[in-house]
Amino acid sequence: MFIRAGSWLNFVVEVIIRADEAAAARLVARILVKEVRANPHLVLGLATGRTMEAVYRLLVEAHRQEGLDFSLCRTFNLDEYVGLAADHPGAYRYYMNRHLFEQVNFDPRNTHLPNGMAKDLEAECARYEHVIEKAGGIDLQLLGIGRDGHIGFNEPLSALRSRTRVKALTPTTLEQNAPCFGGADNMPRRAITMGVGTILECRRCLLLATGAEKAEVIARAVEGPITSMVSATALQLHPRCTVVVDEPAARRLEGADYYHWIFANEPEWEEFRES
Ligand code: GLP
Repeated sequence: MFIRAGSWLNFVVEVIIRADEAAAARLVARILVKEVRANPHLVLGLATGRTMEAVYRLLVEAHRQEGLDFSLCRTFNLDEYVGLAADHPGAYRYYMNRHLFEQVNFDPRNTHLPNGMAKDLEAECARYEHVIEKAGGIDLQLLGIGRDGHIGFNEPLSALRSRTRVKALTPTTLEQNAPCFGGADNMPRRAITMGVGTILECRRCLLLATGAEKAEVIARAVEGPITSMVSATALQLHPRCTVVVDEPAARRLEGADYYHWIFANEPEWEEFRES
């Protein structure tokens, strides 16, 4: 495995703080665009949630205005609700079709989400792991974060080596995502999610979090002790994880000055700095 040692002073989670939500989304989109250009066959891990909408808008823009080509890319989403058909407005398949897949030129056969309608959910989870493996693994996994620290739907106490499986959602998650369903009562109680172990196997992780309501959980995820109570802390074990946050979400980070300094000075980030 390729580990970026040395210049990162044993610090494998790179944190980049941008002024606001728009600038943070822009940076994430630029990293994605660069990766797709460098490797047209990229295997992309995708995420849902309100935070990602701005990123997908920018990818659509890059496709329309700069001809960014997704025709050879394959995608794997992190998760899907149990019991929702693809055309249900709350389903992640519906979200992905609407915000990205139908707006750019992915081959629909190359876009994958777990099937939350499968009769045998356990078999579906095993199948999903298998297709990821057959694709050669995920090159770049886009991640959001839940207020309870989940990545995908790996709710607190998800084993750090867990694989794709069905998880019961926590009250915090039900409350957080309820607006998409017109209230928590209408929301599915379970979801299929890639495991923490599945996520850690991708070659690069790119997490985006914005807004003051994420400040506490981002500080715990990036600077706190690794614990299955906050699944995102497992990313500290990943060899290449980039965390992009806006100022409000960075408010509780103790190392903020250091992260700013690295972004301003490391040559790798030069092309991503905005004047
Ligand atoms: C859902 C998804 C997560 C995502 C989270 C963040 O719970 N399962 O993968 O990270 O939403 O949502 P938002 O961006 O709306 O805060």
